[in-house]
Amino acid sequence: MINYPQQRLRRLRQNASIRSLFDAPMPGPEKFIWPLFICEGSRRREAIDAMPGQFRLSTDMICREIERAVQEGIGAVLLFGLTEDENKNPNGTASCDSQGAVQQAILLIKKSYPHLVVMTDVCLCAYTSHGHCGPLDSNGNVLNDEALIHLNHTALSHAAAGADCVAPSAMMDGQVQSIRGALDREGFENTLLMSYSTKFASSFYGPFRDAENSTPGKGDRQGYQQSFRDDKQALRESLIDEDEGADILMVKPSLSYLDIIYRLRNETNLPLAAYNVSGEYSMMIAAADRGWGDLRSMVRESIFGLRRAGSDLIISYWSNRYNEFFKD
Ligand code: PBG
Repeated sequence: MINYPQQRLRRLRQNASIRSLFDAPMPGPEKFIWPLFICEGSRRREAIDAMPGQFRLSTDMICREIERAVQEGIGAVLLFGLTEDENKNPNGTASCDSQGAVQQAILLIKKSYPHLVVMTDVCLCAYTSHGHCGPLDSNGNVLNDEALIHLNHTALSHAAAGADCVAPSAMMDGQVQSIRGALDREGFENTLLMSYSTKFASSFYGPFRDAENSTPGKGDRQGYQQSFRDDKQALRESLIDEDEGADILMVKPSLSYLDIIYRLRNETNLPLAAYNVSGEYSMMIAAADRGWGDLRSMVRESIFGLRRAGSDLIISYWSNRYNEFFKD
């Protein structure tokens, strides 16, 4: 065995030019998906306190907001809807309104940027009066099969407005099969389905719930989202969604779950997305603000970890600053 002193790994990293022969490239902008929060009304561009640099936008403000990211070559946007409290009800039926903010936003974006891939979050929690991801029984548990009916309608309303891809995030059993079936029956067999296939019950969604005003009034989401203490079930969640017909799988959150991304990568040949969630975004900013690290370097390092673990797509709030953060 040849070892030190003949073998010196530092030879391979002695200067920037030599290092760049071996370093893998940063993922390109086309691998990044930018989540956007769409609200009702007009001329609204409200800063989200817990997510500096991100805004709640009314439909008329979106095209201007995404122009630079589109020019930089971003891969897709992922739309999240918001509604006023008076439109919320126990079943979250405002989520499938063809005149809703998300449905209108899809139409507008597709008109201005026909080649931009438009994805939509399909869930009910921003539209239910109680803030859970489906209708509740008398004990406060989400009714799985009832939720599917409303998720189907919501996905169909997005596909009808022209979404390229619907992304169910409610963690209901059978939601992929159910939505795929509904899309196919209605002639949307080309609409992609990206499943939030392994979505953990996570404390890293805090800033998002502030943005969306979707914190459950009572209880939490542990009855439907995945426990972070059960890795086997976490893998089953995604593999079942593959069987149900998902086109793209996802692990969410991302930075605490690199093992799940890596293991899934070895068990599926479907494209895999990592969702770099709101808490993961905001904590970097908070640390940098305190002078505890350089923001750009921390972001590059953490996002590259998602790539090494095996994700093909990166859903991240950093996407709108691709050149600034990721261009070499
Ligand atoms: C809705 C949904 C959530 C997120 C994406 N879709 C919140 C939740 O489940 O409470 C979180 C996104 C983020 O934190 O960036 N079901």
